[in-house]
Amino acid sequence: MPSPSNPTSKANNQLKQRLPVFQAQVERALDALLPSAQTLPQRLHQAMRYAVLGGGKRLRPTLTYATGEALGLDPAELDGPACAVELIHAYSLIHDDLPAMDDDDMRRGRPACHKAYDEATAILAGDALQTLAFRALAQGRAGHADSEARLKMVASLSLASGSRGMVGGQAMDLEAEGRTLTIAELEDLHIHKTGALIRASVMLGALCTADFEQQRLERLDDYAKSIGLAFQIHDDILDVEGDSEEMGKYQGADARLEKATYPGLIGLRESREHAEQLVERALNSLSTFGESADCLRAIARFIIDRTS
Ligand code: IPE
Ligand code: IPE
Ligand code: MG
Ligand code: MG
Ligand code: MG
Repeated sequence: MPSPSNPTSKANNQLKQRLPVFQAQVERALDALLPSAQTLPQRLHQAMRYAVLGGGKRLRPTLTYATGEALGLDPAELDGPACAVELIHAYSLIHDDLPAMDDDDMRRGRPACHKAYDEATAILAGDALQTLAFRALAQGRAGHADSEARLKMVASLSLASGSRGMVGGQAMDLEAEGRTLTIAELEDLHIHKTGALIRASVMLGALCTADFEQQRLERLDDYAKSIGLAFQIHDDILDVEGDSEEMGKYQGADARLEKATYPGLIGLRESREHAEQLVERALNSLSTFGESADCLRAIARFIIDRTS
C-alpha cells in the first residue's frame, strides 16, 4: 500500500508550512479578482473587499489546491476554482450574519459586514460575490480544464451553493430553530448548509485534471463528504466550548437562537466521537493515494483539532 491511512506527524507538519502558503496564494488571487475600492460604486466594492480579504482560515480554497496536488497538478494553476469557493463562502457568511438570519455582529474578529457598512450594502455585497465566483470559474486559471470541464465546474458549484446545497441548508437551519430534529434530519441539514460547498471545493480541484479516473474521483468525494460533516459538527462544538476572541465570532450564538446542533442533540462527548469517526473514514477514503495526498490527510485532522 502506498501510504498509511493515518496522518503522520510529517503530514501535519507539512500542513503547518503549506497552509500559510495556500492562504497567501488565494489572498493574492482574490485581491486581484475583486474590483478595487475606488471602482464605482465604491461603497459596494469596499464592502465586498472588507468581507473577503484579510481573514478566515481559507479552508475551502486550501482543499481545492490540496486536491489538485493529490492528483499531480501544480496548485499555482488552480486560482480560479480556489477563489470561486472562497467567494461563495464569504457571501454565505455575510448573509448568515444578517439580522434576518443569525443576527451576529462579529465575524473574523471584526464587525460583521452589515455592521461595518449597512444591511442593504451587505446584501448586495453578498449577491455580487456570488456572481463573481462564477466569473472566476469561467475565466480564472484552472489547471488543464477545457471548456467542458469548466461547464462541469459551474454546474457543480451552482448545485452545491443553491437551494439543493448551501442555501437549502440555511433554510433548513432557520426552520429548525427551537425544534428538536432527529439525528437523520440534523445530518441532512449539516450536509447541505456546510458539507455541499466543502464537497464542491474538492470536486472543483479534481475537475482541473485533464483525465481523472472515476474511481479516484469517487474516493475523493467520499473523503470530502466525511470531512464536510465533521467540519460542521466541530463548528457546533466550538460554539459551546470555543473562545470568542480566538474564533473571531461570538461563542454561544447557537444556544441563543436555539439552533439545531450536534452537541445540543447528542451531547459534546458523542459529538466529538462522531467527528473523530468521520475523520477516520475520510482518511480511509484516501488509502490508495500516495504521499501527494498528505496535505488532504492533514486537513482532515486539522478540521477537528482547530480552535477557531
Ligand atoms: C464558518 O466557516 C461557517 C461555517 C460554515 C460553519 P469557517 O470556520 O470556515 O469560517 P472562516 O472562513 O474561517 O472565517
Ligand atoms: C453557517 O453556519 C453556514 C453558512 C454560512 C452556510 P453557522 O451559522 O453555524 O456559521 P457560524 O457559526 O455563524 O460561523
Ligand atoms: Mg447560521
Ligand atoms: Mg451563523
Ligand atoms: Mg456555527
